[in-house]
Amino acid sequence: MAAEILQTHTPALLATAIERAADVLRSGGVIGAPTETVYGLAANAFDPEAVARIYALKGRPAHNPIIVHVASAEMARACTSRWPAMADALGSAFWPGPLTLVMPRSNRVPDIVTAGGPTVGIRWPQHPFMQGVIRACGFPLAAPSANLANRLSPTNAAHVVAQLGGSLPLIVDGGNCNVGIESTVVDVTGTFPLILRPGMITETALHAAVAAGKPEPGSGQAAPRDGILRSPGQLDRHYLPQARLVVRSWQDETGLERLMESEGIDPDRSCIIAHTRIPMGGRFPHVMLIPDDAEAFARALYAELHRCDEMGVACIVVESLPETPVWAGIRDRLRRASTR
Ligand code: TXA
Ligand code: MG
Repeated sequence: MAAEILQTHTPALLATAIERAADVLRSGGVIGAPTETVYGLAANAFDPEAVARIYALKGRPAHNPIIVHVASAEMARACTSRWPAMADALGSAFWPGPLTLVMPRSNRVPDIVTAGGPTVGIRWPQHPFMQGVIRACGFPLAAPSANLANRLSPTNAAHVVAQLGGSLPLIVDGGNCNVGIESTVVDVTGTFPLILRPGMITETALHAAVAAGKPEPGSGQAAPRDGILRSPGQLDRHYLPQARLVVRSWQDETGLERLMESEGIDPDRSCIIAHTRIPMGGRFPHVMLIPDDAEAFARALYAELHRCDEMGVACIVVESLPETPVWAGIRDRLRRASTR
């Protein structure tokens, strides 16, 4: 079975896609759907059998919970048993948008969504298709990224077709993802916001929003950065291209050439992804440029990595990134992609 692909770039096409997708979702099916971060594999979050299909399609381990996508504050509250004050502050600052809040779950949310745990990750996405289809369905959508387990997340419909086109009835094409890496995941069950997965909403922005939401001035000091790891999915190998990926810095082409030689990396079988020190000479046949700006870099990164894999290169050499907070989410993904 080849997936039906529906476009969304006119109001009429968007309305048709929402209608068709809602039909599939109401009958317990799974669709490939655009969000502003990465494409998702979506199903009715309140239907355990539908969610089980997501795990099966992805080959996802049962211990890894799935984010629930909502389109209103009421829907978010229906999924939780307690609504922390921090959720108000962060939700009103960043929703709809690339932020997932981990909160105590309600009994509306089936075990399979939370991997049996006491919390649920909730996100109100920005993408007009997701907002429209969730409203049309009237139930929230469980949706992990639309890739096979441990593979690279898709940021356009073609990426979804390549990995899962043969096993989905419907893929909605919502264009290139505007954010480009997965949402920032924040646990708000404790005293301080705890970042479980960094993303394009930075730690600085999160702390500012929490501080602004506090009634008494001066009480919103930065949270302690304990390294507690409570996001089960963070333990898995993640965000992996097929090629070996290394992150390196270099001064000039000669330096890059020496570096690659000393590490046994063949320039003819490698892609170089550069943003400031761009090798211009003919010694490196595959050089990709990516903007030297965190938001634009995030938007472009996965598509470049997918392209490297399509080219079948053995190694991807990514120029190292600034250490500033806006780059934290991107550094995290590249660190994971380079750890095997
Ligand atoms: O941007 C995104 O978040 C995308 C789009 C589709 O919304 N979704 C996404 O889902 O990246 P996924 O399943 O690929 O990654 C979700 C991450 C995993 O690391 C998972 O362990 C964590 O969020 N997570 C989900 N629910 C959680 C919970 N209740 N407690 C802790 N971590 C949770
Ligand atoms: Mg994922």
